[in-house]
Amino acid sequence: MSLQLGDLVPDFTQDSTAGPIDFHKYIEGKWAVLFSHPEDFTPVCTTELGQVAKLKPEFDKRGVAVVGLSCDSLADHKKWIGDIEETQGTALNFPLLADENRKVANLYGMLHPKADNTSTVRSVFVIDPNKKLRLSLTYPAPTGRNFDEILRVIDSLQLTDKYKVATPVDWKQGDDVVILPSVNNDTAKTLFPDGWKEQKPYLRVTKQPGKTPVGV
Ligand code: BEZ
Repeated sequence: MSLQLGDLVPDFTQDSTAGPIDFHKYIEGKWAVLFSHPEDFTPVCTTELGQVAKLKPEFDKRGVAVVGLSCDSLADHKKWIGDIEETQGTALNFPLLADENRKVANLYGMLHPKADNTSTVRSVFVIDPNKKLRLSLTYPAPTGRNFDEILRVIDSLQLTDKYKVATPVDWKQGDDVVILPSVNNDTAKTLFPDGWKEQKPYLRVTKQPGKTPVGV
């Protein structure tokens, strides 16, 4: 059975470019993004890892630990990091798990044999400070992901947890949000003293509370 939203994510210990990682200990009290890519020394993966390294300050701002993975050796990772630095113009500034024995890939369902016999697919897991899975995404090997979208989802999740709001279609930082359906109008009056626009009883639009990333 694959991991489902709300599940406690599996713990593991695995080697990485930053030394051995005890995952639950590593992400303790933080949000986390764990993502896999198919293989070292491949073009799309090279661009993705460069982009995540460039976005690291944005993940930091939100209190998010980022961990990458592929089923390659630590020696390969170390060689490839030089290529990433050379071609993407940035040093790798987050740990890359060397999951050669596929321990983590199997635990998290990152191997989809009908899509690829040997390599992991492009999985993304967003994990909250309670170590519960809040988002999972699976992309095919030839399609590079958009990590701005991952940041956007984290902003939305953090707003929901802190302010009991949800984010409508195509929402971006600063746009109006909607009050969670589980919040009744009496409670909403306390939580949203500046009010809201009630387009329908279930569609209550309000200004975004807190205009900068929420963090933890
Ligand atoms: C890539 O990262 O470029 C890639 C990996 C596997 C299949 C296709 C592309």
